[in-house]
Parts: sequence; C-alpha cells; structure tokens
Amino acid sequence: MEDKVSTMDRRPIGIFDSGVGGLTVARAIMDQLPRESITYIGDSANNPYGEKDISFVRDISLAHLDRLASSGVKMLVIACNTASAAVLDEARERYEKGMGIPVIEVINPAAGRAVNVTRTGKVGVIATQATVSSNAYEKAFSALVPVELSTQACPLFVEFVERGLTSGDEVLHTAEEYLRPMREAGVDTLVLGCTHYPLLAAAIGYVMGEDVALVSSSQEAARAVYRYLAENDLFAPEDGQPQHTWMTTGDPESFSALARRFLRQNVQAQHIEEIKGSVA
Ligand code: DGL
Repeated sequence: MEDKVSTMDRRPIGIFDSGVGGLTVARAIMDQLPRESITYIGDSANNPYGEKDISFVRDISLAHLDRLASSGVKMLVIACNTASAAVLDEARERYEKGMGIPVIEVINPAAGRAVNVTRTGKVGVIATQATVSSNAYEKAFSALVPVELSTQACPLFVEFVERGLTSGDEVLHTAEEYLRPMREAGVDTLVLGCTHYPLLAAAIGYVMGEDVALVSSSQEAARAVYRYLAENDLFAPEDGQPQHTWMTTGDPESFSALARRFLRQNVQAQHIEEIKGSVA
C-alpha cells in the first residue's frame, strides 16, 4: 500500500464577522481544532450588518474577505449569517474558483443539521432582519428536504451581545417577545441563524423549553471547517503552537475585553481601518 503524503498546512484560518459574533465560530474552531491559527476580522465600526442594505453588506464583506485572502489564509470562514446571505455565491466564485481558497459559510451547515435534528419538520430560524429578508435559509432548506419553516428577526439580540449583555431581565423579556411566534408555531428545532445568538443560548433555550433543540450556526460552521480540513489533509501540524491575530475596525480595547470574556483567553486586538467604497 502506498504511503499517504501529508500536506499539513500551518497557514491560519481567516474568519470574518460584523463584530464579536464570529467569536462564537472562532471559539468552536479553537475547541475542536486547537492547533489551528486564526486571523479574525470583526467589522465592529459597521455593526450591525443586519439592519443595513444587503448591497452594502455585500460590498463591505467582500472587501474584508479580500483583505483576509491576500493575508495568506488557507481557508475563509464567513462567520456571519448576514454576510453569508449577501455574498455566498459570489464568494465561492471569487475565492474558491478565482484564488483556490475554500470558503465555509454558516447558513448551509446549520440548515443541514436542522433537517437531521427535527422530528416534526417544524423548524424555526431566528436571524437578523437582513438574513430573514434575503430568504437565504428558505433557499438552503429547499435544496435539502421540505420543512415547515418559521422565521423571526431579533435585532436587539446583536446589540445586547455587542454590549456584553448576555443575561438578566432585559435579555429574558426581549427573548420572550421575539420567540413567542416560534412557540406558537410549535417548532421542535430552532436555528440560531446569527453568530451572535449562541451567546444568548441560555435565555433562548429557557424560553423555548427543553423539548426544542437549538442548532447553532457557529457550531455547525466549525464542524464544516473540520470536515473540509480532514478531507483535504490540511490540518495544522501537531508540533506547532497556534498564532492568533485579532483585528477590529472598532475600538480595540472594547473588542479585546469582550473577546477575552467570550474566548476565555488573552486577546489583544489591533485596530484596522474601516473600508469605504464598493467592490468590483
Ligand atoms: N453575526 C452576524 C450574523 O450572523 C450579524 C450581526 C449583525 O451585524 O447584525 O448575522
């Protein structure tokens, strides 16, 4: 039998989000793939993407992904459902076909998990307004199996997480309001279709009740990253220590403080310039 030649790859994984939400994807990757280095961009200066026009989200997301691609990452992770909804097909064309850099997004992995988890076929998706309006989850589910889909935008959730507010009465009361239609629809599976939401999973799970399964787009994206690296023999070697780089267009001190809390490790973020203008 021929020996398999290993093509292990030390280059970092590039992760992009509108702010600190993508840290839930980074955290899941760091838990499951502790040798991998991460280069992260959080576009906190433009957060929230969910309230913006989808063409603006498209332009700005591609500009940040271009930045990550040219920094020499081995893979791009669009750790934001809103950005994924805005650029998915274009990103595959631009980076996978154009530059040979694989792209993992958060919507299709989450939809794939939800269809495996649901027993009744009644699935809910909570997401930003832009993701809901894009119908990206409808498209993802219709490529899989028919489900009875209910969607709900939860705009304040992103604001809470960006402020570091993840528990307490305000979060719980807002969750009760937002999730009422999901409970009335009788969903048995609820997709957290925004990468900020896993940080509110305790409140969301409490309001939905024990018999509703929560599917995290962040966890599922990390599993998709693992799958891709395993299938393509691209894991980082076992001998090295990971080197992480954290960048934000916002205030690096507030970003670092939240990142330290959410990742439970020392983070010193660098400030990078906000990108203005459109992308061809
Ligand atoms: N975390 C992002 C998402 O998954 C977007 C939040 C926002 O900027 O509105 O949709």
